[in-house]
Amino acid sequence: MLIVERLSAGYGETEVLTNVSIRIGRGEIVAIVGANGAGKSTLLRTIMGSLRMRTGSARFDNISLAGRAPYRIAGLGIRLVPEGRRIFPNLSVEENLLTGVYLGRQASRAAALDRVFALFPILAERRNHQAATLSGGQQQMLALGRALAGEPRLLMLDEPSLGLAPRVIEEIFSTLSELRSSEIGILLVEQNARKALAVADRAYVLENGQVTLEGPAPELAANRAIVDAYLGGHA
Ligand SMILES: Nc1ncnc2c1ncn2[C@@H]1O[C@H](COP(=O)(O)OP(=O)(O)OP(=O)(O)O)[C@@H](O)[C@H]1O
Ligand SMILES: [Mg+2]
Repeated sequence: MLIVERLSAGYGETEVLTNVSIRIGRGEIVAIVGANGAGKSTLLRTIMGSLRMRTGSARFDNISLAGRAPYRIAGLGIRLVPEGRRIFPNLSVEENLLTGVYLGRQASRAAALDRVFALFPILAERRNHQAATLSGGQQQMLALGRALAGEPRLLMLDEPSLGLAPRVIEEIFSTLSELRSSEIGILLVEQNARKALAVADRAYVLENGQVTLEGPAPELAANRAIVDAYLGGHA
């Protein structure tokens, strides 16, 4: 579904990503793990079109993403839940979710809300509350729900577990597992390598902007030497 080949990108004079190649298939959960500053967020920004790719290619169902604006990439069915969530604090839960629908191909707003509320019942309970009043975990669910309201085919998540309590992380990751059956591809970026590898089908290790390792997630998670060397003991 998504094929990224030998992609390079960076900021100003600095090259951050060098020859990065990754693939994500339909219904697959793929994790990118790597230390602080490895270039994980930069990779997602480049796929989403908010950062220009310098060399290499990215294709989504054989459509080239190079040179496309983020809204056009969203129009192809790719959604990014950015680091830090970026929900609208002054809008209600429901209004936040509807901002996701307007960008999508979803004809029925009510149906989109129903689907999100089925995944996250707490959002249904709080639908008329201001987003700013939600807990961190609920805000992450809202950010995820807003992306899902747009019926994405590829969902990209940047550090969804950051700053959340273990019980909430558990809940969010189990929702990702449930989404597997819906044929959505998920690209999950995490510093929390242990959690990411537990939910993912395959994974890539990103080090200093380069893919140094890839394979089935259970294999990477089971290899203690790999975990220590590449995941900074985080796992
Ligand atoms: N807007 C920017 N302008 C200049 N340099 C940047 C910018 N954003 C990131 N960088 C640099 O690019 C490198 C990779 O950053 P990036 O945010 O992609 O890493 P990351 O793997 O997501 O890290 P983290 O786990 O901390 O989120 C870092 O050296 C960072 O300082
Ligand atoms: Mg990041």
